[in-house]
Amino acid sequence: MKNRLLIALLISGTSLGASAAPWSNQSQQQIMDTLVEKFEQGNYSKKGADSCLMCHKKNEKVMALFNGVHGSLQGNSPMAGLQCEACHGPQGKHNRGGKEPMLDFGSQALATAQAQNSVCLSCHQDSPRMSWHASSHNLEEVACASCHQVHTGQDPILDKQQQNGVCTECHSQQKAQIHQRSSHPMKWDQMQCSDCHNPHGSQSDADLKQVTLNDTCYQCHAEKRGPKLWEHAPVMDNCANCHSPHGSVNDNLLKARAPLLCQQCHSGNVHASRPYAPGGDTGFSAGGSCLNCHSQIHGSNHPQGKALQR
Ligand code: HEC
Ligand code: HEC
Ligand code: HEC
Ligand code: HEC
Ligand code: HEC
Ligand code: HEC
Ligand code: HEC
Ligand code: HEC
Ligand code: HEC
Ligand code: HEC
Repeated sequence: MKNRLLIALLISGTSLGASAAPWSNQSQQQIMDTLVEKFEQGNYSKKGADSCLMCHKKNEKVMALFNGVHGSLQGNSPMAGLQCEACHGPQGKHNRGGKEPMLDFGSQALATAQAQNSVCLSCHQDSPRMSWHASSHNLEEVACASCHQVHTGQDPILDKQQQNGVCTECHSQQKAQIHQRSSHPMKWDQMQCSDCHNPHGSQSDADLKQVTLNDTCYQCHAEKRGPKLWEHAPVMDNCANCHSPHGSVNDNLLKARAPLLCQQCHSGNVHASRPYAPGGDTGFSAGGSCLNCHSQIHGSNHPQGKALQR
């Protein structure tokens, strides 16, 4: 009797993927109600993964789970506990004609992002994800599984060569910026979005890794950190007063070129009292403009550097 059931299940397994799931015409609300009910009843299968694989083992993607950390049979891995159901929830009556949905994952999933994420967080609510609940990604209902893949040996977003590509699938504006004339070396994957951002959220604006924007820049540009004898107020305030961190059409990631950049804050006639050399170029309008004289734009340690000129 039992063997016949197994055979029936195996045969049904061969046709997987040919037809849409029986619950695919249900609303998200109906599906979520069923999933919540299933979790409350807690009808986990007796055979764990073996029961699932009876129908799902022909799916290469499913089997690739065993190439990655979540397929390990050791430690806190799901496969060492409730196995597939640790993530997809209790089987319930899913195996009986596939009438009941399982919790599914990703941006196309029928389950809500919140439901999906609570599964992942049940094991991963640790320090890197301390601020997840306040993160833009959580607030905009981005699922963990929209960035991460677990049915694989190597999650692309954890690969430095691929991370920028995954992030810019959604962030097209930044994708354009990192290809501008001046940019951090992200288009060659020598730097990653996660050098500056914690995609899981942080205590600061724009989910930056450090407490302030400037501290994020000092990680690599320590020489710009004060205190200096003569400081330039906007530098200490916020590097993004002048720089566009992802890229710019101007040199040095500048938001505008001098003198325009400077004149956003300094009046055009700041040197009104200075005599102009007769008929000549004083340097006010030449190439580097203001920077020809005020070369220590990030501050000066020279005793006579008050005007940031040395
Ligand atoms: C009797 C066969 C059978 C068994 C046993 C079974 N499933 Fe399924 N499963 C199906 C069918 C049929 C579908 C719908 C077709 C599809 O999407 O592949 C499905 C769909 C799913 C989906 C949704 C796939 C998607 O594309 O969104 C997940 C997740 C899933 N099953 C997980 C499991 C897990 C975990 C177990 C074990 C606890 C399990 N299944 C046991 C037959 C089965
Ligand atoms: C039952 C516990 C459990 C659940 C549920 C779980 N994980 Fe994990 N996860 C682990 C363990 C154990 C590791 C191995 C590394 C470690 O010790 O943190 C891991 C590692 C990871 C890693 C690092 C992978 C690597 O290759 O280094 C990522 C990313 C991850 N999990 C994401 C997820 C996502 C996304 C979900 C939800 C879809 C999820 N996890 C659900 C236990 C779990
Ligand atoms: C916007 C994309 C994105 C989302 C959404 C996301 N992650 Fe990550 N995750 C990353 C990136 C990038 C890394 C590697 C760099 C890093 O650690 O900051 C990472 C690393 C990890 C790691 C391994 C290293 C570590 O930090 O421990 C785990 C575990 C993990 N994420 C779990 C999760 C869980 C759980 C969720 C959902 C609550 C989630 N992630 C949501 C992008 C994302
Ligand atoms: C760590 C959590 C986790 C575990 C454990 C897990 N899955 Fe998944 N499963 C996911 C996520 C997340 C996805 C979405 C695709 C991806 O991220 O790789 C998924 C996708 C699927 C799909 C849809 C695949 C497709 O073709 O799109 C099926 C079916 C499935 N899982 C079945 C299983 C089975 C069977 C097991 C046990 C052998 C299992 N899962 C174990 C998290 C998990
Ligand atoms: C060198 C550090 C750095 C790197 C690398 C970086 N960012 Fe940013 N990002 C910032 C800073 C700083 C801000 C805040 C800008 C501001 O306040 O003007 C920001 C803001 C953002 C914003 C909010 C919208 C905006 O532009 O203000 C998004 C979205 C974003 N970054 C995505 C990304 C993505 C995607 C990547 C990888 C391709 C990335 N960032 C790489 C520093 C960085
Ligand atoms: C599945 C789509 C998706 C992916 C992939 C994704 N994001 Fe986002 N991200 C969003 C959405 C949606 C928002 C909120 C709306 C917005 O600001 O664009 C957002 C917002 C942000 C912000 C703005 C924070 C703020 O407060 O202004 C940053 C920074 C960011 N993402 C960084 C990243 C990084 C880094 C990665 C890759 C590790 C990444 N994102 C991958 C969808 C995504
Ligand atoms: C993870 C390290 C890292 C962080 C963090 C970082 N930078 Fe950079 N920065 C670099 C590298 C690498 C270069 C390229 C140096 C080169 O090409 O010689 C660079 C170059 C620059 C340049 C010159 C660009 C050009 O076109 O020559 C500016 C301006 C700059 N960074 C500003 C910032 C600002 C502002 C922040 C904070 C929002 C920041 N950086 C954060 C590593 C970093
Ligand atoms: C008042 C505008 C302004 C502010 C604010 C500012 N910068 Fe700059 N930065 C410039 C200008 C102008 C240049 C080009 C200098 C040149 O051409 O000599 C530059 C060049 C750079 C460079 C590349 C050349 C070099 O000096 O290494 C880096 C790196 C840099 N800035 C980092 C930063 C960091 C980090 C901050 C915040 C602590 C910051 N900047 C704040 C105006 C500013
Ligand atoms: C975001 C606004 C802002 C921008 C942009 C800016 N500055 Fe300033 N700058 C200030 C402020 C504020 C002070 C401090 C004024 C004070 O203490 O009276 C200052 C001070 C100075 C001083 C020293 C004045 C003194 O007597 O102490 C010089 C020189 C100067 N800036 C030159 C420049 C140049 C050159 C540029 C363009 C590359 C520039 N600034 C861009 C806001 C800005
Ligand atoms: C030919 C060299 C030169 C050029 C070019 C130049 N400056 Fe100056 N600037 C000076 C000197 C020298 C001082 C010191 C004060 C003085 O002696 O008048 C000064 C002083 C300043 C001060 C402080 C004024 C005060 O009231 O104390 C500001 C602000 C300033 N410059 C901004 C600019 C801006 C903005 C530009 C570009 C539009 C610029 N400078 C171009 C040489 C120059």
